[in-house]
Amino acid sequence: MIEALKQKIREKIENKYLVDGLVIEEAKKGSADIAVPLFQYAKLWKGSPIQVFNKFSIALEGISEIEKIEFSNGFLNVYLVRKKLAEDILNDILTRDFNYGQSSVGNGKTVVMDYSSPNIAKSFSVGHLRSTMIGNALKNIYKKCGYEVVAVNHLGDWGTQFGKMIVAYQLWGNDQDIRKNPIIELQKLYKRINDEEKVNEELTQKARDAFRKLEQGDLEYIKLWQWFRDESLREFMEMYELLDVQFDSFNGEAFYNDKMDRVVDMLEEKELLKVDEGATIVDLTSFDLPPALIKKSDGATLYITRDVAAILYRYETYHADKLLYIVGNEQQLHFKQLKAVTDLMGYNFDLEHVNFGLVLVDGKKMSTRSGKFTRLEDVITQAIKDAKEAITSKNPDLKNQDDVSRKVGVGAIIFNDLKNERHLDVDFNLANMLKFEGMTGPYLQYSSVRIESILKENELDMKDIDTSYYQEDHYFEVIKQLAQFPHIILKAQEQNAPSVIARYITALAQGFNSFYGKQRINVENSKHKNANLLFIKSIQAVINEGLRILGISPLKEM
Ligand code: ARG
Repeated sequence: MIEALKQKIREKIENKYLVDGLVIEEAKKGSADIAVPLFQYAKLWKGSPIQVFNKFSIALEGISEIEKIEFSNGFLNVYLVRKKLAEDILNDILTRDFNYGQSSVGNGKTVVMDYSSPNIAKSFSVGHLRSTMIGNALKNIYKKCGYEVVAVNHLGDWGTQFGKMIVAYQLWGNDQDIRKNPIIELQKLYKRINDEEKVNEELTQKARDAFRKLEQGDLEYIKLWQWFRDESLREFMEMYELLDVQFDSFNGEAFYNDKMDRVVDMLEEKELLKVDEGATIVDLTSFDLPPALIKKSDGATLYITRDVAAILYRYETYHADKLLYIVGNEQQLHFKQLKAVTDLMGYNFDLEHVNFGLVLVDGKKMSTRSGKFTRLEDVITQAIKDAKEAITSKNPDLKNQDDVSRKVGVGAIIFNDLKNERHLDVDFNLANMLKFEGMTGPYLQYSSVRIESILKENELDMKDIDTSYYQEDHYFEVIKQLAQFPHIILKAQEQNAPSVIARYITALAQGFNSFYGKQRINVENSKHKNANLLFIKSIQAVINEGLRILGISPLKEM
């Protein structure tokens, strides 16, 4: 609402005086609500700021949301009709319930999001965890903007490594061990064949032959591959369950096997293929990029070939208007090449590589191999345990301790990841992310729980309320924050940046906590008390909705 009003002010002034790029600021605390700096126009028109003020004032006559305007220190200060605005905003929040902030910018459009996408028979890395959490938040953000979202887990389930896996399994595999600990066992086999290959060249050839047989659809090999895939996926699913993340499709690289010839034919037809030392490539010199390797000299296709097939499939099957790939910084070149190849093919896909940085522990790249945990799932389980300890020491009588601990532990990890701009590296320190103060998940969940407990003790009577209290600065500051929410969602969508929401709800929770430090809720006057209750209920609704969008569960108790 305030954004719309700013827009109105901007248009009125710009249209009347034929200027553009008018800056409108939030006025500093305690003074006006909105401010327009005038110096720039004073300079432009070689006059004084007060002269500009007089001109602009004329343009703003008749806007009903404006209480008064004032000149101060080179600014045009706008005071809003606070009571009416506050009522409109709170009304919008509570009547639309969790729909507050929902927009229609994406209506009728489909986005395909490719995220998580771990590799079969390998451990789920911290990078895959980041991708999962960022992707899940973006899914919620886009839905909130009206888009249709198709969440795809592009499993790394194809490639020459499966030839090696099959040979290793035939030589040393043990079914029971694999069933018990699929990924650890499969990784062991993979490591062993890589080690032995160094002294036994025969193995390399065997693995190549095995992969060829697999690519040709040998039934026995396909069955083995399918088994490795199922077992790995079973383990990945435990992770998704912990994180409460769902996908619409698990079509991974292997899914595109029978769609690869078409890609090669299309490239051929468009005369984009070249043979270079036996390999088939697409030359990307015109994009200032190294060539894209489409086929190896032995005919095997590659990661990028499968991605070209996948993008065509997504475009045709889901009618994607936009494609997001949530993958680490290290694959920047790959996605530039993918975009370049499809551009050369004559498509102009709206394709974005939503990149992100590393996860660091004590300044070093985090890896489950170097840490004290072998599986990422164990790291998350540890967070849940630590959360449980913290919670039960604060609130020993809490019911549903396990459920709450899971939500706090997982929420802490998610929030720690999403609070900073995604392309930056994140620090992974369980003790810090589980703190109940500062910029943490538990702090936000706790702020919401605090409001919940006040609301539980005091019943809100909507018929006995006086909204004029909202005109006071300490209320209206927060009202202005609440009014920002729809705009924040749009900004997060435009920038593919969950951090925009994470920062916003942190500021809102801080806004609530400082308000709560100044204002008693349960006051004598019932009209005032109800105004307070309605006010904090609205804050809670927005914090909770922000948490939900990030993939963190709001709580009623903790
Ligand atoms: N499996 C890949 C990896 O772990 C990520 C796949 C990302 N998605 C894609 N369409 N390339 O590095």
